[in-house]
Amino acid sequence: MKEMEKDIDRIIISEEEIKSRICELGQEITSSYDIDESLVMVCILRGAAIFMADLSRQIDMPVIFDFMDVSSYGTGTKSGVVRIIKDLEENIEERHVLIVEDIIDTGKTIKNVVDMLETRKPASIKIVTMLDKPERRIVKQVEVDFNGFEIPNEFVVGYGLDFAEKYRNLPYIGVLKEELYSD
Ligand code: IMP
Ligand code: MG
Repeated sequence: MKEMEKDIDRIIISEEEIKSRICELGQEITSSYDIDESLVMVCILRGAAIFMADLSRQIDMPVIFDFMDVSSYGTGTKSGVVRIIKDLEENIEERHVLIVEDIIDTGKTIKNVVDMLETRKPASIKIVTMLDKPERRIVKQVEVDFNGFEIPNEFVVGYGLDFAEKYRNLPYIGVLKEELYSD
């Protein structure tokens, strides 16, 4: 990991901390459901892929994997409507859905995803996010059911999170050196 490590200013969440928090999250999630059918875990690509893989193995009930990719809303003052790049394969009507996100920042992405999925009449929708940056929240009407870690307003990479598609495979979460993205 040397090639990527030199770009990291400091580690804010270690591999061990991630592991133990995911174990707790898995237990919390498992005990929050009392359902007979499989839980549909919806991974928001691409950032949540690693989290989904680890978290799902700590959830003690049958789950189904599905994946959704949405476009970012761009920069500046855009309306905040996201576009579906890849839709779900499953029909979620009358089913229990757990949306798995990497990080909630302004809240626009998750709000749009929830609104889109709600029109499909699922039995329930819950949200789990690995990271939350509450200081940056613009959309307040989203309720996050399970949250791994609250972090300060800094740009982080690793454990699925990228900068220009790089650093997703770092096993920890770190703050990227500012000089790398400040131009
Ligand atoms: P939101 O719509 O502003 O909540 O943005 C959420 C998305 O922005 C996440 O799914 C990430 O893809 C991206 N994002 C936000 N903050 C970070 C960060 O610190 N590192 C990497 N990606 C981030
Ligand atoms: Mg994302």
